[in-house]
Amino acid sequence: MCGIIGIIGKDAVAEKLLAALRRLEYRGYDSAGIATLVDGGIERRRAEGKLDNLEKRLAREPIAGRTGIGHTRWATHGVPNEKNAHPHATDRVAVVHNGIIENFQDLSEELVAAGRRLASDTDTEVVAHLITRYLEEGDEPARATKRALARLEGAFALGIVFAGRDDLMIAARRGSPLAIGIGAGEMYLGSDALALAPLTNKILYLEDGDWAVMTSKGVTVYDAEGREIRRKVRKTAVSGAAVGKGGYRHFMLKEIYEQPQVIGDTLHSFVNPATRAVTLPEFPFDPAKATRITLIACGTSFYACLVAKYWLERLARVPVEVDIASEFRYRGADMPEGGLAVFISQSGETADTLAALRYANKQRQHTLSIVNVPESTIARESEAVLPTNAGPEVGVASTKAFTTQLTVLACLTLAIGRARGAITPDAEARLVGALTEVPARAAEVLNHDERLREIAEEVAKARDVLYLGRGTSYAIAMEGALKLKEISYIHAEGYAAGEMKHGPIALIDEGVPVIVIAPSDELFAKTASNIAEVMARGGRVIFLSDAKGVQRLGWQAAATVQLPEVDPFVAPILYAIPVQLLAYHTAVIKGTDVDRPRNLAKSVTVE
Ligand code: F6R
Repeated sequence: MCGIIGIIGKDAVAEKLLAALRRLEYRGYDSAGIATLVDGGIERRRAEGKLDNLEKRLAREPIAGRTGIGHTRWATHGVPNEKNAHPHATDRVAVVHNGIIENFQDLSEELVAAGRRLASDTDTEVVAHLITRYLEEGDEPARATKRALARLEGAFALGIVFAGRDDLMIAARRGSPLAIGIGAGEMYLGSDALALAPLTNKILYLEDGDWAVMTSKGVTVYDAEGREIRRKVRKTAVSGAAVGKGGYRHFMLKEIYEQPQVIGDTLHSFVNPATRAVTLPEFPFDPAKATRITLIACGTSFYACLVAKYWLERLARVPVEVDIASEFRYRGADMPEGGLAVFISQSGETADTLAALRYANKQRQHTLSIVNVPESTIARESEAVLPTNAGPEVGVASTKAFTTQLTVLACLTLAIGRARGAITPDAEARLVGALTEVPARAAEVLNHDERLREIAEEVAKARDVLYLGRGTSYAIAMEGALKLKEISYIHAEGYAAGEMKHGPIALIDEGVPVIVIAPSDELFAKTASNIAEVMARGGRVIFLSDAKGVQRLGWQAAATVQLPEVDPFVAPILYAIPVQLLAYHTAVIKGTDVDRPRNLAKSVTVE
């Protein structure tokens, strides 16, 4: 969740640290801070709240030093204030940390009993004190760190600097991701390649249990057993230049508008428009032979799994389970041999999804990940990877990652269905044709932006909002509700329309907008009955459908958005867009921080 950065530089480093923290702010924004090495000591500047506060602080009180570490925090232990902001430091050591030190209570009691004074309520500060204690016992920094690491339980990515040792930084990884960047006479560490993008494109990823000693000349990596080990240096394609708002008011809006382009880019990797056939890369196993497919993810990515369940069962005729990663990983389910487990994650670092992947690997499943960050841990630990080519997604609310995940899952469905004989070549050609039209249709959907903004005026007044749909639209209803609650803070629920009369219909009154996702497909008539039931009870329906649907029912709705008519197969990809825009405009009207909603972070690397 938190973002960390470290630089052993040639000249003043504070500004570069701050710029890197900007690229990491999506990981957390409860507080931020930097520490640099100056005249044999450690200088720190920290500030509560978003990075702007740290920037102002640094403008008032600049900080020198060519080596330093920085942190942007998503609070776990200790409220978000300056005292709890990282880096945590003693007079000899400063530390930034992403993760949770689970045994910090025991360690802090031990340290306090030994006469040390802890200044914060965090789990992190014990690391600085533990290393300091071993330094005071006469250890060199590397040995002191190694001894301290051996005492830590939990998950962490750590960056550590030492007073008076300007050409030294130590990095350690257990659980939480950490990348080391190699520059010309400079070295960097960061939570991800994006943080390091403008600094270098030469990156090595620490594996679980690794720790590394960095100087301006290079890096020595040790594995969990303490053996020196070589980790592959990769050239990353991540571009720092891609990460701007490009004239849009918010990253979220920019990312919504990028969808026609990035869905097209994603399709381009898997679809041959001439032959109207899907071609997946070679896998080390045959996904079509899977006896069962288990789809696992969190949040929005989980809703992509839910759409895919309908597709894979219906079209590819394969048994599918879907599961929320945080539930799946602790259930201890037996996974029958011959199964394929698919993990979906924008970041590729979500702790619960990663743990579920490791579980599936142990259960001897074939594993496939669909990720937006190809260098991520989930990608590296899966047998096969299908990338979503969405480009960096910075807005905390996932938008383009979701629709590109759906695009990849649609291609996977067609490939598996064809190989299993469930989808004929003709049907494949028709469905691929529908898919290749999605970018153009998505651009048409964006034309309804203004209409959705008008509707958002009404939604913004509500205290509760219901989203209804059937089939794949049920998954989009849940995604719409999640989008609305996370950025506008309005309570929203996504329901299967047929479930209304089993309870939630009791909520209906004129103050609860009911957003119905209803492309005209074979379930339309059923959804129409549910809409009638809602309206008969005074519910105000906001109706998202196509020309046919609007003709049949639109006149009864309080508001209507008429979307392009498409093959029902691709409807969930397109209907995701209006629910994103509706949430976006509602949040703007309510004046929330759209890109950085309260209490959230983009990359959830703690359990
Ligand atoms: C919601 C959202 C989250 C993520 C979830 C999984 O808009 O972005 O629900 O979808 O945290 O993240 P990834 O896909 O990175 O594993």
